[in-house]
Amino acid sequence: MNKKGFIFDLDGVIVDTAKYHFLAWKKLANSVGVDFTETQNEQLKGVSRKKSLEKILKWGNKSLSEDEFSKLMSLKNEDYLSYVNNMDESEILPDVPKILNFLIEEKQPIALGSASKNARTILEKVNLLSKFNTIVDGNGVAKGKPNPEVFLTAAKNLGIKADKCIVFEDAKAGIEAANAANMVSIGIGEKDVLQNADYVFKDFTEISEEFITELIKN
Ligand code: BG6
Ligand code: MG
Repeated sequence: MNKKGFIFDLDGVIVDTAKYHFLAWKKLANSVGVDFTETQNEQLKGVSRKKSLEKILKWGNKSLSEDEFSKLMSLKNEDYLSYVNNMDESEILPDVPKILNFLIEEKQPIALGSASKNARTILEKVNLLSKFNTIVDGNGVAKGKPNPEVFLTAAKNLGIKADKCIVFEDAKAGIEAANAANMVSIGIGEKDVLQNADYVFKDFTEISEEFITELIKN
């Protein structure tokens, strides 16, 4: 049977945690006198925690000592985790379990490829951890998206060649990473943001089992 590697991003693909990242970053930015908008939040999708804080400080023309910087990183994460702790299965995005279960029935290897260091906690909270054959997250990679490292590591862990992998991503940086890894890139979100993806769907309710079957075959 044909086997492909199916790699899923987490935030914005499996669960809508962008709203919690936004609340936590906004509170933090405002606490040091920096403004933070939804548009800016959009630009932090797929971007690591450290890189995100660097960008926020740059936008606000602020520079901090190393100590202050790491203190702010921990504060942001504490606040973010206070939202994550209240998450349950109801926060899984529509039809995600349906697609995961279909892939499992079809005996296709499944990986998580996320920038988040909280990926395991979140998957446990929403009860999806057992669906994945490997988890590659922000704890396991040195170079963040758009660098392809996270997806190449996922492919390696699955034992599937990169050009036989398919990536589901909601972030521009993630689509760039999938393309750089020579994988099929599937954007989840808006076409005008994800123009470099091979395919774009608004969400998983638009993805049919026939489409997945074709991906497995070709
Ligand atoms: C990505 C999110 O998945 O993970 C980013 O899109 C976030 O917004 C990044 O900054 C890192 O997440 P965490 O949970 O390690 O702070
Ligand atoms: Mg994402």
